[in-house]
Amino acid sequence: MNKSEQVSFIRMDEGTFEDYQLLHEKEADYFSGTPKRILAQLELQGEESLSGYQISRLEHGLQSATRAEHDGADIDWIVAALIHDIGDGLSPQNHDRMAAEIIRPFVRDEVSWVVEKHGIFQMKYYGHHYNWNPDQRDEFKDNPYWQSCADFCERWDQMSFDPDYPMKPLDHFAPMVFEVFGRKAWDEAHIKSGVVVGLPTNKH
Ligand SMILES: [Fe+2]
Ligand SMILES: [Fe+2]
Repeated sequence: MNKSEQVSFIRMDEGTFEDYQLLHEKEADYFSGTPKRILAQLELQGEESLSGYQISRLEHGLQSATRAEHDGADIDWIVAALIHDIGDGLSPQNHDRMAAEIIRPFVRDEVSWVVEKHGIFQMKYYGHHYNWNPDQRDEFKDNPYWQSCADFCERWDQMSFDPDYPMKPLDHFAPMVFEVFGRKAWDEAHIKSGVVVGLPTNKH
């Protein structure tokens, strides 16, 4: 890297105003690369992911997102469905919360809550096989987003392990990833705290 494009410090407390201006400019550039890095991580999940399933984690995300789109869901839901298991690569034991933190600055509060809690809600469909409580999700029964998460899991997540389902390719969803992850972070216009949209009533 060009030396003139580097800071003067080797410890943060010795940085100058100019140093931090430079970093601020470079940070904006870096943020604009987030959508590209999200897509690269999803692609990796097509090569290496949890084994034993009939499809890869990338295909599971594509299938979930395709179902969301077919149902007429908005872009926040579609991108959430696409990336809801993106945490499986680096944090398989905490993948739901990791995915939620990745998307949280850019989408409705409702949607990031659903991504965060989907692991607990999914236990409804298989927890009994491990002697886990399938109804653990009921501890959130009073949350306004509860039904959205129950529907997300019922209609898009737990349904999407079918190798014969005609799922759309990642290229199809790339512009949506660029739109959502290109938004201004933490903008209330997108976060919409407390708003419940729910899933579309349309089902395919
Ligand atoms: Fe998951
Ligand atoms: Fe999933």
